[in-house]
Amino acid sequence: MMALIDAKNLKKNFGSITAVNNISLSLDVGEVVGFLGPNGAGKSTTMKMLTGFLDPDAGTVDINNINLMDNPIKAKSLIGYLPEGAPAYSDMTVYSFLNFIGLMRGLKDKKLIQRLDEMAKTINLSEVWNQPIETLSKGYKRRVGIAQALIHDPQILVLDEPTDGLDPNQKHEMRKLIKSISSNKGIIISTHILEEVEAVCSRTIIISNGKLLLNKNTNELLKNKKTTLDEVFRKITTMSSK
Ligand SMILES: Nc1ncnc2c1ncn2[C@@H]1O[C@H](COP(=O)(O)OP(=O)(O)O)[C@@H](O)[C@H]1O
Ligand SMILES: [Mg+2]
Repeated sequence: MMALIDAKNLKKNFGSITAVNNISLSLDVGEVVGFLGPNGAGKSTTMKMLTGFLDPDAGTVDINNINLMDNPIKAKSLIGYLPEGAPAYSDMTVYSFLNFIGLMRGLKDKKLIQRLDEMAKTINLSEVWNQPIETLSKGYKRRVGIAQALIHDPQILVLDEPTDGLDPNQKHEMRKLIKSISSNKGIIISTHILEEVEAVCSRTIIISNGKLLLNKNTNELLKNKKTTLDEVFRKITTMSSK
């Protein structure tokens, strides 16, 4: 089977800082991969390279067998990306922002109207549809971020800390939403919340200091009931910083 994402030996330096140090990973249909690591581990930088937002210093990214560097527009059209902090044009209304992103993603006419309608319903945005984004709660803002990532119905979703800053109820809602859309897609979510990985992720990747430390089926990882993800995480990340 062809991988949705196949990234090999990614490297990125910022001056003297090595943000990403030789990371390889893949994503298949039906998978929700949890991308875990302490702050500054290199999660966002890796995601920026997977989505073509940032060029790697070295390494390759193939999206559904399409090389991201050689064919960026085609490759990016297959991806929905929620960047860190869910940026949006905050003076636009939810409707006008999603309409704009839809147009940018190549949707038009009936198809655009249909997708906007679906976003309003499935992401639960109807209530705030004509409200400026800057007036929304964090939970709703994050949902707008998810909707802009989903508007063109991409098969691949890259979500950078989709639940960051949300209250427990909003976190629960967001996890439910991610689970509900995962069946025919491949999703990578970054987080530093371990229970999130246990709740939604079929595979766990742990990185620290720009290096990949673990890449394993989540059930297999937690099969041994004596281990918690919390313990695995602490053990593995402290070992790497020594
Ligand atoms: N544009 C940038 N310029 C300089 N340093 C950066 C830049 N982006 C990220 N970094 C550094 O790279 C490292 C990894 O950052 P990041 O990928 O944001 O980690 P994470 O998302 O896991 O918290 C950190 O040390 C961060 O300060
Ligand atoms: Mg980050």
